[in-house]
Amino acid sequence: MRAVVFERYGEQAEVRDLPEPRPAAGGVVVRVEATGLCRSDWHGWMGHDPDIVLPHVPGHELAGAVEAVGAGVSNWRVGDRVTAPFVCACGSCADCAAGDHQVCARQTQPGFTHWGSFAEYVALDHADVNLVAVPEELSYATAAGLGCRFATAFRAVVAQGRVAAGEWVSVYGCGGVGLSAVMIAAAAGARVVAVDTAPGALELARKFGAVHGVDATACADTAQAVRELTGGGAHLSLDALGSPATAAASISGLRRRGRHVQVGLLPAAAGAAVLPMDRVIGWELAVLGSHGMAAHAYPPMMELVRGGALRPDLLVTSTIPLDAAPAALAAMGTSPGRGVTIILPGASTRG
Ligand SMILES: NC(=O)c1ccc[n+]([C@@H]2O[C@H](COP(=O)([O-])OP(=O)(O)OC[C@H]3O[C@@H](n4cnc5c(N)ncnc54)[C@H](O)[C@@H]3O)[C@@H](O)[C@H]2O)c1
Ligand SMILES: [Zn+2]
Ligand SMILES: [Zn+2]
Repeated sequence: MRAVVFERYGEQAEVRDLPEPRPAAGGVVVRVEATGLCRSDWHGWMGHDPDIVLPHVPGHELAGAVEAVGAGVSNWRVGDRVTAPFVCACGSCADCAAGDHQVCARQTQPGFTHWGSFAEYVALDHADVNLVAVPEELSYATAAGLGCRFATAFRAVVAQGRVAAGEWVSVYGCGGVGLSAVMIAAAAGARVVAVDTAPGALELARKFGAVHGVDATACADTAQAVRELTGGGAHLSLDALGSPATAAASISGLRRRGRHVQVGLLPAAAGAAVLPMDRVIGWELAVLGSHGMAAHAYPPMMELVRGGALRPDLLVTSTIPLDAAPAALAAMGTSPGRGVTIILPGASTRG
C-alpha cells in the first residue's frame, strides 16, 4: 500500500510502498478514504510523543470502509462505512468499565502506538468497542474529523466544559479543534470570543458563530481583552492550541468560578506551563483536561450533525492527495491556521 512514512523526527516524510496491515483478533483493517491533518500528527513528527517507534506512519483522524475483519468481531462487516475515536479503548479495563474509554489504561492509537492512516489502509483495535458507523449522507472527508478534532471539541465543550446557553466561551487557537469548539459552543447558545494569531482563522471563527475575534498578534494581553469583551471574564475557556502562554491566558480570562479546558497538547519540549494557580484558588476556577471522546458517547453528537445543527462539513477548507501530505505536515510548523485540511489517500491512485 502507499503510505506516508518518516525515519527521523522533523525530517521530511515520504510516500512509499509498505506492507498492508492485517487485522488483529477483535480488530479490523479500514481502507482509508479520508484522513485529517491534525496538529497532533505534527507533534508526533516532531518527536513529542513517546509512544512513536521509528520508522513511523502518522495519521489518526480518519474515515473509510472496513476492508478486513479480525477473528471475534461481531458488529462490523467488510464494506461498512466507519470512523473511530483516535483513542481505541480496550473495552475491559477498570477505566473502560467506568465508561471512561477516552482515558483507557490499555488504549492504542493509530498514528502513535502503531502505524496510522496517512496510508491506504490502517488497522484499528477492538472494533466492537471503538468503531462508529458513518451514515451514507455524511461524506468521508467530513466524517474524518469526527475521529479526532470535532469529537474532541464536542467532549471538551459539552461534557468537560458543561457549556450552557447564554454563557461566554473563549477559544484560544481556532484551527481544527478550535473552530469545531466555536461551532459547538455557538450551537449550544453560548457567546464565543475567538482568539488566534491568523486573520483567516478569526474570519472562519466568526463565520462559525463567534461574536468577537481577538487578534493575538495585535493584542498584548488577550486575557484582559476577553475579560473586557465578556463583561468580567468567560464562563468557560479552551486552550485549543497548546502552549504555556495560551494555557495561562485562557485561565486568566475566566470570571470567578469559571472553567478552563486544556485540549491543546503541552509537550515538555515547549517548556513547562506556568499557570496562575493563585487565581485558580481565589476564584475557585476549574482546570480540566479533555482527551478525545469514547465511541459510546458519539450518538448525541451524531444526532446534531444529522439534524444540521452542527456542520462539520463546513470546517473542511482543503483536500489534498497523499503525495502532498509530507509537505503539508512539515508546513504546520510555520504556516498560519486556515481551517481543516483533509488528505484523500485514494485520490492519486484511484482518481
Ligand atoms: N486533547 C486531545 O484529545 C486533542 C485532540 C486533537 C488535537 N489536540 C491538540 O489540540 C491542538 C490543536 O490542534 P489543531 O489540529 O486544531 O491545530 P491547528 O494547527 O489546526 O490550529 C491551531 C490554531 O492556533 C493558532 N495559533 C497559533 N499561535 C497562536 C497564539 N499564540 N494564540 C492563539 N492562537 C494561535 C493557529 O493560527 C491555528 O489557527 C494541538 O496541540 C493538538 O495536538 C488534542
Ligand atoms: Zn488529532
Ligand atoms: Zn480500557
